[in-house]
Amino acid sequence: MMSGIMRYQVLTIFPELIEDYLQYGILSRAREEGKVQVESINLRDFAVSNQGTVDGTPFGGGSGMVLRAEPAVDGIEKARGSDPNARVVLFTPRGRPLTSKYAREIIQDCEDNSAGMILLCCRYEGIDERVAENWVDYEVSLGDFVLQGGELAALGFIEATSRLLPGVLGNPDSLGEESFDNALLEYPQYTKPREFRSYQVPEVLLSGNHGAIDTWRAERSLVDTQARRPDLYRRSEASPVPKRAELNVALIHSPVLNKKGEIVTSSITNLDLSDIARSARTFGIDNYYIVHPTKALRRLMQKICDHWSDGYGFTYNPNRSDALGVVSLVPDFDDVVTSIEERCGCMPKIVATSARVSEQTTSYADMQSILASREEPHLLLFGTGWGIAPDLMERADYILEPIQGFTEYNHLSVRAAAAIIFDRLLGRA
Ligand code: ADE
Repeated sequence: MMSGIMRYQVLTIFPELIEDYLQYGILSRAREEGKVQVESINLRDFAVSNQGTVDGTPFGGGSGMVLRAEPAVDGIEKARGSDPNARVVLFTPRGRPLTSKYAREIIQDCEDNSAGMILLCCRYEGIDERVAENWVDYEVSLGDFVLQGGELAALGFIEATSRLLPGVLGNPDSLGEESFDNALLEYPQYTKPREFRSYQVPEVLLSGNHGAIDTWRAERSLVDTQARRPDLYRRSEASPVPKRAELNVALIHSPVLNKKGEIVTSSITNLDLSDIARSARTFGIDNYYIVHPTKALRRLMQKICDHWSDGYGFTYNPNRSDALGVVSLVPDFDDVVTSIEERCGCMPKIVATSARVSEQTTSYADMQSILASREEPHLLLFGTGWGIAPDLMERADYILEPIQGFTEYNHLSVRAAAAIIFDRLLGRA
């Protein structure tokens, strides 16, 4: 890129494809005005035979043909002749998916090095990997699908990058407001007529009240991004932190199943007490209830908590007290529900976890969205022993998918499962 002008040299076996597309719209104008330069170079000019061969069969066998290294590298060297620092961009489904952020990174690199871009389009099954490894600076994919070749991707890339250059878009305001720049989707648009086959334009857009229109648009941007692209929404800095209701955890020692499927009470362990408390504190869980009917055991666990909160333990490691501050010891599951209801004014939604594969489980992605927008308290249940007893499982509003590896072995400790589940639901990407 020299004095604000980006130069693209496209290496392709179909230069007409590139030229045809560029005859329309803002790219055609930008070219005429000299804000971008696009030249196509035919890879067949560097063919390895008089018949114009640029491809070969893959070593190791397999279907399809592969673009040979010689025409690709000869083409790159030709393009470099007039732009020695040019950055080479290869279009391939193996590349990093194209985003506004990736496009900006590449432009910045070109700007810093007074370089244009050489866009390498392959057809066939791809290109000899030695070219990708030794001559290519960026590998770009247009998405997780396979195109006939890189030309469509290169055109998409030229359009996505050139509109980020100063002066390429006529209206300097349009850039900032478009989708992805503020990491939210754009609000929906409407135009004339006001009524189309009985469908109306939202009233507010016809009101002339620009404050109300801005508010409506901002809201739709947020709501639509949340519904359609929860991944973008979570990453977005523009989105306000959602108003969150409480998220609680209960570790159930009774009623649980034993190995024979009988309903029993399991024992509390010191490790479950402190490890789950530390994980809960890390992931912002409001309360960690330990449910055990035996008073003596609850007292013992309370003593351990007290040791870390105001005994010698506090002086030794104050972080532990911070974690154990979320712990409550209660005799019965109903005490958990009552305690939440008293505090929050409504019953929590119950989200059970289980190591068993069952029908109608909720995925982590779905539960992530549910929790991100929760307006009522939620309670995550973890069982000990051989799992939560069926009567209690039936009270759950959701059952999360079990955590599974690629082995037959399925015996995670409850504290390990809790940490994994907290991370899946509440961890930073
Ligand atoms: N060539 C073929 N498929 C492609 C894709 N998805 N992205 C970039 N280049 C490609």
